[in-house]
Amino acid sequence: MDRYVVIVAGGIGSRMGEEIPKQFLPLHNKPIIIHTINQFLIFDPDIQIVAALPELHFPRWKTLAKKYNLFENIAVVFGGQQRFDTVKNALKIIPDGALVAIHDAVRPIVSIKTIAQSFKTAEKFGSAIPYVLPGASVRFDDENGNIAPLDRNKVRIIQTPQTFHSTKLKEAYLQSYQENFTDDAAVWEKAGNKLTFFEGDTENIKITLPIDLKIAEYLILHE
Ligand code: CTP
Repeated sequence: MDRYVVIVAGGIGSRMGEEIPKQFLPLHNKPIIIHTINQFLIFDPDIQIVAALPELHFPRWKTLAKKYNLFENIAVVFGGQQRFDTVKNALKIIPDGALVAIHDAVRPIVSIKTIAQSFKTAEKFGSAIPYVLPGASVRFDDENGNIAPLDRNKVRIIQTPQTFHSTKLKEAYLQSYQENFTDDAAVWEKAGNKLTFFEGDTENIKITLPIDLKIAEYLILHE
């Protein structure tokens, strides 16, 4: 099956507190989004890439695409209000009958092994969702005034790339937005589809806060 990846970069990164969205911040001399795209091109130089970007920052992207010679490889769509809207926009240009990975632009340290496993698992089972186990103890707010204990071995921290058969993912994205649609797995599942999970790797961090960028800097330098 043909392989596509949607690099979701339509957010503004308010928790990062920088002037420009975090996906454009430098990480070891290159913008974060360029590292992310490069990992997919290393995995498969013929992979079809769709970058979903904030419309306001399209001129910034044009400069980057020129500098890193990416115009030929990459289609661009604009992001929406929620991540859900961004993915929905991108899926409009993904054909049926393909495999499509959805990956956060702000996870630049994704390994080739994880990308390969995501595509392989989705080809066989329809979906592929990477997870890791929490290192810390975890509890949850039961909304009755208790911060209740949880067995951390039963908790899964969900990552991307989440990969799917495109026909069914596009159908799932015809649903109306719900607040708990924070990733593609939630949208897929709500449409009545089965999820298949696989173990990812802890280095595949999501850059959300300034500390995450420092960790990513360290990881890139010590690869
Ligand atoms: N994203 C997107 N469109 C949105 C919101 C988020 O494409 N409307 C993307 C982000 O660019 C990022 C990924 O989804 O690559 C994860 O988003 P997250 O970090 O949770 O959101 P941001 O809006 O980027 O950051 P913040 O919540 O701190 O504002």
